[in-house]
Amino acid sequence: LTVKDLAGERVLVTAGPTREEIDPVRYISNYSSGKMGYAIARAARRRGAEVTLVAGPTCLADPWGIETVRVTSAAEMYEAVLARLERSTVVIKAAAVADYRPKCKAPGKIKKTDAAMAVELEKNPDILREVGARKGARLVVGFAAETGELVANARKKLLDKQVDLMVANDVSQAGAGFHVDTNIAKFLYPDGRIEELPLMGKNELADLLLDRVTALRQTGAKA
Ligand code: PMT
Repeated sequence: LTVKDLAGERVLVTAGPTREEIDPVRYISNYSSGKMGYAIARAARRRGAEVTLVAGPTCLADPWGIETVRVTSAAEMYEAVLARLERSTVVIKAAAVADYRPKCKAPGKIKKTDAAMAVELEKNPDILREVGARKGARLVVGFAAETGELVANARKKLLDKQVDLMVANDVSQAGAGFHVDTNIAKFLYPDGRIEELPLMGKNELADLLLDRVTALRQTGAKA
């Protein structure tokens, strides 16, 4: 029997990678499969929340009972998230958003020559920073994917982006991060508290995260 402890909450979840096009046949992206974010979206729905999932390109089927908005680039994810921010009471940003995109997209396939080639990149908007700046009474959860100095780097992002809970994962550890069905996470809070979790399934981690979200929503302000 599932406790509907998220009934009344409108949870906005992001998942998957973004793709930044170089030309019509090539892009820059990362290894995110969407599994972590989808697990959170499904668990939130099971626990009674109204869930919207904004997903980058993944091979996963749209989850049942969840409004799923498909996007490709970080700019599209930015628009999709901000358009749905007002309605949401909880935002959970598990997506691996590309920090940079090619400055110009070539209209046709770039031809190979004998010369070296460079692609100039420009910065993408930081969706989580924008959500943090406009969060009001919402609860905002971020993820930090790191390959070293996990706690220090994740803590910096937590403060910079004004999130209430940061899920830090070292994506260079076996069984953690991209693509696999498991993760190893630490929950970081603005007051300096850190909760260290063992290796566990992404579904299990999703439920544990939502336990903390429920607790924070009960003690914190209601949107
Ligand atoms: O999808 P899976 O294969 O299951 O893998 C899961 C995961 C490794 C993708 C996930 O657990 C994870 O760590 N997600 C966040 C990845 C990431 O982009 O981390 P970051 O440290 O670069 O970004 C920090 C936070 O800012 C993230 O919440 C990210 O969504 C957000 N961000 C980053 C850049 C940007 N331009 N806009 C953002 O909103």
